[in-house]
Amino acid sequence: MEFSVPERIRDIKPFLVMDILERARQLEAEGRDIIHLEVGEPDFETPGVIVQAAQKALSDGHTHYTTALGIPELREAIVDRYNHLYNLAIDPARVVVTSGTSPAMLMLFSVLIEAGEEIILSDPHYACHPSFILSAMGSPVLVPAGAEEGFVLQVNAVQERITPRTRCILINSPSNPMGVRLAKEEIEALAGLGPPLVSDEIYHGLSYGERDYSALEFSDEAFIINGFSKYFAMTGWRLGYLIVPERFVRSLEILQQNYFVSPNSFVQQAGIAALREAVPAAEKMRDIYANRRITMMQGLKSIGLPVHREPDGAFYAFADAHQFSPNSLVLAREILEATGVAVAPGADFGPGGEGYLRFSYCNSVENIETALERVGRYLAGR
Ligand SMILES: Cc1ncc(COP(=O)(O)O)c(C=O)c1O
Repeated sequence: MEFSVPERIRDIKPFLVMDILERARQLEAEGRDIIHLEVGEPDFETPGVIVQAAQKALSDGHTHYTTALGIPELREAIVDRYNHLYNLAIDPARVVVTSGTSPAMLMLFSVLIEAGEEIILSDPHYACHPSFILSAMGSPVLVPAGAEEGFVLQVNAVQERITPRTRCILINSPSNPMGVRLAKEEIEALAGLGPPLVSDEIYHGLSYGERDYSALEFSDEAFIINGFSKYFAMTGWRLGYLIVPERFVRSLEILQQNYFVSPNSFVQQAGIAALREAVPAAEKMRDIYANRRITMMQGLKSIGLPVHREPDGAFYAFADAHQFSPNSLVLAREILEATGVAVAPGADFGPGGEGYLRFSYCNSVENIETALERVGRYLAGR
C-alpha cells in the first residue's frame, strides 16, 4: 500500500528564503563574494554576559532536564521584564518557557485550535505562522495587509472576517516581513473585537520610535509569544516563551512534557542573565540597527525600489519590486546570481507578498551600501 503525508502537512509551504540561502552558500563556497540581506538573523555575537552565564551554568552542572514549564527564576525574570516594560502585574505562573519561539507556537496552536477552527492573520505574514496553524488542523484566514492597508491588519476588515468558527486573531508587531507596527489604538481595537489576540512579540525592543505595546496591556485574555532570538541576538540558543491565561498552563505543561520534556537547562540560565544583565548590550545593537535602517531606506529609494511605508521595527525593509518582475522568487534568484546579493522573495510571506523583496539590515552599513549599489546597477541595466 502506498503511503503519503497527510494533506494538512502537504499544505505547509517550503521556506523559499532557505533555498536562496543555500544557493548563496554554494556560491560562497565557489569563491563568490556574497552579501547576505536575506536572513532574519542578527549578525551580532550574543552579548558576553549571556555567553559567560551559559559557560558558568555548564560548569555548575546545569546539564539535566528542568521542570517542564521552565525554571522559576527565569519565569520570574520574564514577568519582571513584561511588568516593568508594560506596567503589568502578570504572575510567573502564566509563563511557559520553550526551546525557541517556534516550539512555543507549535504547542500554543495545538492547545488553542479545534480541527477546522479559523485563525485570522495578515497577508503578508511571517512565513511559518500559517504552518503552525495547519499543523494544529486549523484554518488560516488571510486578511489583506498590503501597501493600501499600510501593511497592517485593518480593524474593520478583521471584523468582517469573524465567524462562529474564529478561534483567535494573530498579530505580529513589529512585523516580519514588513517591519511596521500596529498603533496602540489598533491593538486595542483588535483586542476588543471578541476573539482573543495571539500576539507574536518577538521583535519587541527592536523598534525605532515610540515604545512597543504588548497585547496584554489591552486584554488579560491575550496569548503572548516571545523569545530571545532577535533582541538578544540568541537565534542559535533556542529559547522562547509563552504568557497565557492561567487555565491553559496545565495543557501546555503536558504538551511540553510529551514533546520536549523541558527547555534546555543551561540555556535557561543564560536567559536569566540576558533579561537581568544584557539589556544595555541589546540596546547598543538596537542603536546600530537604527543607523542601518537609515542607510537601507536611502539606498532602496535611490535605486528605485519603493518602500511604501517606512518600517519602524524589526530589521526589515519590504520593497516593491513589481516594476522589475511579478515573480519575486525568480527576481531574487536572478539578483543573487548576477550581483552576489541575497534577498528574501516576498512570495515567502503569503500571496500578498508576491512582487516584493525583503531586505534585512542585519549587516554592516558598508555591506548594505555595497549591496544596494550592486543591485541598483543590475536593475538599471536589466
Ligand atoms: C515573527 C517571528 N516569529 C517567530 C520567529 C521564530 O523565532 P525563534 O528563533 O524563537 O524560533 C521568527 C523568526 O524569524 C519570526 O520572524
